[in-house]
Amino acid sequence: MAERQRIIIDTDPGQDDAVAILLALACDELEVLGLTAVAGNVPLRLTEKNARIIAELAGRPDLPVYAGCEKPLKRELVTAEEVHGKTGLDGPELWEPSMQLQPEHAVDFIIETISACPEKSVVICPIGPLTNIATAFERNPEVAGRVQEVVLMGGAYFQVGNVTPAAEFNIFVDPEAAEIVFRSGVPITVLPLDVTHKVLTTPKRLQAFRDLNSDVGRIVAELTGFYERFDLKKYGMGGAPLHDPCAIAYLVCPELFSGKRINVEIETMSELTRGMTVADWWGVTSRKPNAMFIGDADVDGVYRLITEKLAHY
Ligand code: RIB
Ligand code: CA
Repeated sequence: MAERQRIIIDTDPGQDDAVAILLALACDELEVLGLTAVAGNVPLRLTEKNARIIAELAGRPDLPVYAGCEKPLKRELVTAEEVHGKTGLDGPELWEPSMQLQPEHAVDFIIETISACPEKSVVICPIGPLTNIATAFERNPEVAGRVQEVVLMGGAYFQVGNVTPAAEFNIFVDPEAAEIVFRSGVPITVLPLDVTHKVLTTPKRLQAFRDLNSDVGRIVAELTGFYERFDLKKYGMGGAPLHDPCAIAYLVCPELFSGKRINVEIETMSELTRGMTVADWWGVTSRKPNAMFIGDADVDGVYRLITEKLAHY
């Protein structure tokens, strides 16, 4: 088998984060070096706890989980309990994790891991606000040059915003952090709402999770069943977008996705459009392309991948 791809998942669980982490831990193609929690969907004390619950659900109490930044670089934290519930993982009956949180700060873990691993051998997969990543890049400027790639869920162009008319939640929460990451020169692949709004949790797809006849299958169905209620009402689509697993699915099967390399800048000045990913999809500026911006996916293929991998539990 080809060498496993080393990744760090930076996360704010969140039901869709949970599915992304379970997917990653079920992929033999990936070596998850650690989970770094960031404040986002719910405060840090819950995102780090939820990351530990998910690691235990995956049968990986050995997986190092780190707590990172508890608020954005320059702004007050905005959370999303209305979507994810007060625990961040509302839906199934869960438990108090017994595995310990690592004592080291997540940013130190990111810096030390990227510095210790061979250059360009670790992919960072942010599926929450980019505060931890930007802090690592700022604290040790060599890190950005040593990272193989950042594959993130965030932003939007044709789908514009989900938390304001202009901005997607992960970028909205910490636009200054996103600006640092997008201007860092690190190779970036973006899984924006443009593609995740096509990856919908239909009843048939949720039933396929239940039919796995495992704790993971049942809990994933209950997590996504809870999480989808908000977006079903909001968008009236045939299901809710399953955002974060798209980043992991891209890592494992990039051929399921399509997009183009474009310039993406982040709005940080205007309160009206704060956190907007100003994506030059039509190449109307002379700004240098800095990101592979994904616009489409073989959605049945993505759900087939998720379901087949979750069947490994
Ligand atoms: O806008 C969707 C993103 O915001 C997802 O990562 C979801 O978990 C929330 O963090
Ligand atoms: Ca998330």
